[in-house]
Amino acid sequence: MSSSKTNQEEIKEKGVEKEQEKNVIEEETEKEKEIQKETENDPNKKKKMPKINLFRQKAHMNPLSLRQMDFNLSIRPQDMNWKEYYPNMEKGEHVDFADIGCGYGGLLFKLSEMFPNNYSIGLEIRGKVCSFVKEKISVLRHNEKGKYLNISALQTNAMRTLPHLFVKRQLSKIFFLFPDPEFKKRKIKWRIISQELLAEYAYFMKSGGIIYTITDVYKLHSWMKGHLEQHPLFTELTKEEYQNDPLINVISTESEEAKRVEKNGGTKFLACFKRK
Ligand SMILES: C[S@@+](CC[C@H](N)C(=O)[O-])C[C@H]1O[C@@H](n2cnc3c(N)ncnc32)[C@H](O)[C@@H]1O
Repeated sequence: MSSSKTNQEEIKEKGVEKEQEKNVIEEETEKEKEIQKETENDPNKKKKMPKINLFRQKAHMNPLSLRQMDFNLSIRPQDMNWKEYYPNMEKGEHVDFADIGCGYGGLLFKLSEMFPNNYSIGLEIRGKVCSFVKEKISVLRHNEKGKYLNISALQTNAMRTLPHLFVKRQLSKIFFLFPDPEFKKRKIKWRIISQELLAEYAYFMKSGGIIYTITDVYKLHSWMKGHLEQHPLFTELTKEEYQNDPLINVISTESEEAKRVEKNGGTKFLACFKRK
């Protein structure tokens, strides 16, 4: 008999490993919950920051699906209870910036500090990842009173649900940082930038508003830039505008993906366009 493992043995081992991993995560989550409970009873006690490892989720979700979201689909933008997300939001105020596919939310935290008078929302299709962002915001709001009240996150499929969230000419900045490249031919329709989606983004944007895109995948960069160039309602930032916009440096450095690409010595390709 051969000493190498049979397929069945390997499958069984993998199953056991997965089960053990799940148990560790469940145990750690329970511990976290206990710590959070203790701090709830003592509002002056600092809360512990959530650990990214406990919120990992498989990378690819079907963005054509309507299943992944944490709000009611019958809702209209005017019915959204934004106070639930931004406790200090006054009547007449609204979300200004959207970070589409915000992942673990690195950009949002920077936007909060840089633009204290603007509201930003992160839209993320993966439930666990979005829960991490919400948990981190909640802990920071608790630990640093009065801060991070202008950012929030929603689990949703941004390809399908923007009309439920925003009205015409509302947004002044939309970010697409390191979107999924969707290389396979049959998945190209999943890309977050296309002529149809640009028409939608243009509808929700103020004149003079900016779309920021960045990726480390050259093919995707050409795709996004090409589509933006083709669209009659967008024009690329001038050299001076690129130089003078402080967000150009931020989008290259602050998100979790930007940091990963930096660490691996990857190249980052930027394309930023203004809504006419
Ligand atoms: C490669 S990650 C980049 C995350 C983040 N922008 C960053 O730079 O760290 C792409 C993210 O987009 C999310 N995503 C993909 N399609 C989406 C969609 N249709 N709506 C909302 N989020 C989506 C994925 O779940 C993933 O977290």
